[in-house]
Amino acid sequence: MIQNISKENAAQEAIKFVKNGMIVGLGTGSTAKIAVGLLGKKLSKDFKIKGIPTSIATEEQANKLGIELVDLHEYENIDIAIDGADEVSPNKSMIKGLGGALLREKKVEIKAKELIIIVDETKMVDILGKGPLPVEVDITNYERTGTIIERLGCKIELRIEANNKPFITDNGNYIYHLIFAEGIKDPVNLNKNLLEIKGVKDTGLFLNMATKVIIGSKNGTRIIE
Ligand code: A5P
Repeated sequence: MIQNISKENAAQEAIKFVKNGMIVGLGTGSTAKIAVGLLGKKLSKDFKIKGIPTSIATEEQANKLGIELVDLHEYENIDIAIDGADEVSPNKSMIKGLGGALLREKKVEIKAKELIIIVDETKMVDILGKGPLPVEVDITNYERTGTIIERLGCKIELRIEANNKPFITDNGNYIYHLIFAEGIKDPVNLNKNLLEIKGVKDTGLFLNMATKVIIGSKNGTRIIE
């Protein structure tokens, strides 16, 4: 419950940065969902935004709320994006994608002039890799891709659904969860090495992207910039 209040507080703070007329990247996951809901409630004749969703789930939510949606490809830059994260380190490096939407999140958020990440305290870590790192891979030859990924010094698990079938992303790919026994010591290098592997579509490492991290607690928020 405290976690829900914390997420709500972070989301409330984040939407203050969204101004009338902005193009807004709409994140995915339970925290981003709160922010999208608040933006929907705020719509009026004096507050209109154009949204770019990062997943089919967010697109459906935004449509229900009457948020006008536009196509990412029409914009070189977008004003702002708001999203959650799975882990955040003190220098604002992040692991994202446990919600399964990392590829679209990265495509949208890399174009954001302001990327606001909203989390509760439980997401803050000293070094990334406390939990799994999601990596989206092509279904073709995914087993071979997995073998090559493991050579980077991690264990891998294919993300499986409740029905025992592999999870398929909005883009038709699989997700491996990478487990690093001692955390991720050099995220920049790891990201580079992963992206060089044929079959890897993108990684859940979001580095040098966040401009603000808003950490919600039950009493309010603090911001890392
Ligand atoms: C979605 O793919 C993720 O990147 C989410 O942003 C992340 O999993 C955070 O989700 P919660 O806000 O539900 O913890």
